[in-house]
Amino acid sequence: MRVLGIETSCDETGVAVYDSDQGLLADALYSQVAMHTEYGGVVPELASRDHVRKLIPLIREVLADAKLELADLDAVAFTAGPGLIGALMVGAATGRALALGLGIPAMAVHHMEGHLLAPMLEENPPAFPFVALLVSGGHTQLVRVDAIGQYELLGESLDDAAGEAFDKAAKMLGLEYPGGPLIAKLAEQGDRTRFRFPRPMTDRPGLDFSFSGLKTFTLNTADSCRDKDGVIDPQTMADIAAAFEDAVVDTLAIKCRRALRETGLKQLIIAGGVSANRRLRERLEEMVGAEKAQLYYARPRFCTDNGAMIAYAGCQRLLAGQQSDLTILAKPRWPMATLPPL
Ligand code: KG4
Ligand code: ZN
Repeated sequence: MRVLGIETSCDETGVAVYDSDQGLLADALYSQVAMHTEYGGVVPELASRDHVRKLIPLIREVLADAKLELADLDAVAFTAGPGLIGALMVGAATGRALALGLGIPAMAVHHMEGHLLAPMLEENPPAFPFVALLVSGGHTQLVRVDAIGQYELLGESLDDAAGEAFDKAAKMLGLEYPGGPLIAKLAEQGDRTRFRFPRPMTDRPGLDFSFSGLKTFTLNTADSCRDKDGVIDPQTMADIAAAFEDAVVDTLAIKCRRALRETGLKQLIIAGGVSANRRLRERLEEMVGAEKAQLYYARPRFCTDNGAMIAYAGCQRLLAGQQSDLTILAKPRWPMATLPPL
């Protein structure tokens, strides 16, 4: 089965074609980051309008890359939520209409299920069951995954998501949006022993997270290091970035270890934008090594938003005989645990 995947939930337009026999045939991404940087974050109305401009040309590009015509498609999968309502509507309306026009099935895909399954696009994918750490700009969740659609939420952030915390800490240091990759880059030059930031909620039981206190801690540390003109010297900036990154990474690693021990599972997958973080991958490799477990993740390009994960997730549900009705479905909020099993 050959599925066109469309992702427009936030600030990237992603399109891909996945073939259940041949694997990924083509994928293309247009990032709106440059447009939103000026405003220090995503402006929803600008995001929707830009998806309208970029989506159809991107679909054409992907089909040409894969040397396919529209008539060669067997189904269309689109992100239906969670995300920005206007942005979601562009992909959902386009995807649904395209499928109707071609007389083929359509599948409304959950964005986080897409992220969760992205490591399946790599060689040696994990087998069910496993523990998944989903860390993106909007979500921080630990999930027990027994099969596609069989999700048990083990813990989640009570306030900011991990990616959101990275972005806010970056803003405090005067870095551009999105700050995650910039903090990570700055941290490489940092002295990781100069500051010690708290590891929130690790000293009590449970698998929930909280990152808002870390944000305040970062702000206070940054303010205490400013000179009379409000400037922080470059080395101190790097030292703060390193301390912040280590605090987030350590906190995530402690909770992941706890989740593996509590479930007795020996496989951990990490997905979502923050799973591209190198320090996190290294720290988790160390942890799973000690636990005699395995770590799985996608290539960095498929950690952040992309069309390939949506095409793949949609294809798995379509192969199981599921499909969406004619409703143009766009749900800004959509708990993953409400998804049906295959
Ligand atoms: O999954 P994603 O592309 O979009 C959402 O679904 O939210 O995740 C974006 C988030 C942003 O907060 C971004 O700062 C963060 O992922 N991110 C990173 C890195 N790359 C992206 N955070 C830390 N280190 C990175 N290398
Ligand atoms: Zn995402």
